[in-house]
Amino acid sequence: MPKAYQIAVVPGDGIGPEITPVAVDVLQAALRDDVRLECTEFPYGAGHYRRHRCFMPPDGLEILMPFDAIYFGAVGLPEVDDRLPARDFTFKVRCGFRQYVNYRPVERHEGVPGPLRGDEHFDFVVVRENNEGEFILCGSEHHLDEPEGFATQMSVFTRKGITQIARYAFELARRRRGLVTNVTKSNTLIHSLSYWDRVIEETAEQYPDVRYERMYVDNAAASFVLRPAHFDVVLTTNMIGDILSDLGGALMGSLGLAPSGNINPEREFPSMFEPIHGSAPDIAGQGIANPIGAIGSGALMLEHLGEAVAARRVREAVAATLRDRIFTPDLGGTAATDEVARAVVARLPQTQ
Ligand code: NAI
Ligand code: MG
Repeated sequence: MPKAYQIAVVPGDGIGPEITPVAVDVLQAALRDDVRLECTEFPYGAGHYRRHRCFMPPDGLEILMPFDAIYFGAVGLPEVDDRLPARDFTFKVRCGFRQYVNYRPVERHEGVPGPLRGDEHFDFVVVRENNEGEFILCGSEHHLDEPEGFATQMSVFTRKGITQIARYAFELARRRRGLVTNVTKSNTLIHSLSYWDRVIEETAEQYPDVRYERMYVDNAAASFVLRPAHFDVVLTTNMIGDILSDLGGALMGSLGLAPSGNINPEREFPSMFEPIHGSAPDIAGQGIANPIGAIGSGALMLEHLGEAVAARRVREAVAATLRDRIFTPDLGGTAATDEVARAVVARLPQTQ
């Protein structure tokens, strides 16, 4: 019986519509002949806002709900208020669909010139809490135009939220090299992140077979650069994870290489897969965006859908493409977005 997965594709803005379709082509080519992605495209994002005054329709989540997964590019345009893309699209989907895990692998690709001195191998995952913490969007603004103007913004860390992300990280570490590093800042955020640490440490006790350590984010930032091979599973908060995973992308050689999944582990809602970068307006429209992060996010989606063999084929083909130095300009090459994607397709292992 042929099988089709229903995928909601949201290319978004800027380079989103450049990388997303070519990445979908790679995923389709990697699947067995009797399996395919049945893609329905939705024009949500800042462009949609300019036309309709909303990033997605009011019933956007109900529209996306029946899909097996959401495949997303990025949202945001320089001419649209940049407070809106996260509030009105990305966080809406991540929170509305209880995608409380943001799974962000950081690995060295052979052949890619990175910023580090040595050839040190590294392969770790940033597990970022994705629904609460610093990005809860609760705050207030007062007398903004006056000398006494001030603004507040709240962070919220709940026992439930911390426990569920901690469990995910420890389970993941069990299947990897068995180390969880809790990246925190509880020495200064003595209320919120002390509670974060406390609940994580209670969870750690339930995983005596997994090594657990705590590291302050300032030291973690330095350690990402100085000894990235140390890390296995980096468990951290919403904002710290956002920042550190861009640093992770830089360690890999480009933001354009880094994939991610916004995952609802209970599978009560669709999960959403997207490269970690934004809409990159500075290079949009030139056909030179690196599609590897989007392709890698697609591999995470295939894995989530249960197509582990196809996911592995995509990863092998990406590795071969990078080994052959087929690079977009962000990596010092001259290849166009679609050339890189075609090179990946050409390198898909023959065995299905
Ligand atoms: P960005 O990630 O879009 O770009 C940062 C730098 O990395 C730029 O120089 C860009 O050219 C480069 N870059 C990013 N992706 C690349 C790729 N695939 N290939 C080659 N180079 C790449 O971050 P920025 O400039 O801070 O934000 C631009 C817009 O994107 C803003 O509107 C922001 O709100 C939005 N944004 C959206 C996200 C999302 O939809 N999940 C995530 C991050 C930012
Ligand atoms: Mg980010």
